[in-house]
Amino acid sequence: STETKYFVIDDDLIESLFKPRNDFSHKGTYGKAVIIGGSYGKIGAAVLATKSALKTGAGLTFTIAPKCGYEILQTSCPEAMFIEAGEKIVEKFTIEEKMTIGIGPGLGTDENTAKGLLSFLRNYSNPLVLDADALNIISKDEENKNLIPEKSIITPHPKEFERLFGKTKDSFKRLELAREKAKELKIYIVLKDHHTKVITPEGEVFYNITGNAGLAKGGSGDVLTGILTSLLAQGYSAKNACILGVWLHGKAADLTAEKHSKESMLPMQVIDEFGNVFIDLN
Ligand code: APR
Ligand code: MG
Repeated sequence: STETKYFVIDDDLIESLFKPRNDFSHKGTYGKAVIIGGSYGKIGAAVLATKSALKTGAGLTFTIAPKCGYEILQTSCPEAMFIEAGEKIVEKFTIEEKMTIGIGPGLGTDENTAKGLLSFLRNYSNPLVLDADALNIISKDEENKNLIPEKSIITPHPKEFERLFGKTKDSFKRLELAREKAKELKIYIVLKDHHTKVITPEGEVFYNITGNAGLAKGGSGDVLTGILTSLLAQGYSAKNACILGVWLHGKAADLTAEKHSKESMLPMQVIDEFGNVFIDLN
């Protein structure tokens, strides 16, 4: 077997892969990011992911969500377009060409949502971002894992990882299992935790050292899904989207904690700090 390569995501690595905006660009240059998620009582997750995609620079951003989220989404994210996908849950997964999609925040695991998601995946082969309930739906049957398109990004927290791939004795064994699965399924695994790890299909491991316990709050993961979908839409490779994405998420969280404290900071305020992180990068 090949030797593992472990890396820390440092400022030099980030500077080397960050792509500043071109003066002669237009919205078409920066792709179409689409968030699929939300359900009655969990529309906020879709709002956070959508806002996060918008504030990370996607050219056009869409939300595919149930009708009960229409006014909430159009009011909180007026720059994004809304596509109706059901009444209280997402049932229809209809997308246009050239959309880069992130599925999962607030999606729920209703039987009809699950059916819709799995039949969508059966006919879809482009890389996408899968998070939260999208992963929980996939976890329900071993065979579902083969429906994940190659080069996709999955973003499980430890419990979601366990549902997908099984229990491990400790976090080292979990990392080894993640390396195995990333290779086998040819996907990128963002293993979320304090010090999130990005695992590539080649078995490389990139450690993120930005971020803090102020992120230990519902909604923080939805923000990351929006970032990754947006970066992928903008033409970053899946690997670079993961590396830049987890770093940006944590860096913005560190700036937010300085201003508001780890206790009080909220995921929406983390999104509001993206701008300051980008100013420093440019
Ligand atoms: N230090 C650094 N980063 C942290 C810490 C910590 N102590 N705690 C959490 N984070 C980061 C993680 O690395 C990850 O990026 O915050 C994010 C948390 O993501 P999730 O666990 O997915 O949490 P959440 O936003 O609540 O997810 C929303 O989706 O996964 C489901 O059940 C979950 O209902 C929840 C929803
Ligand atoms: Mg989550």
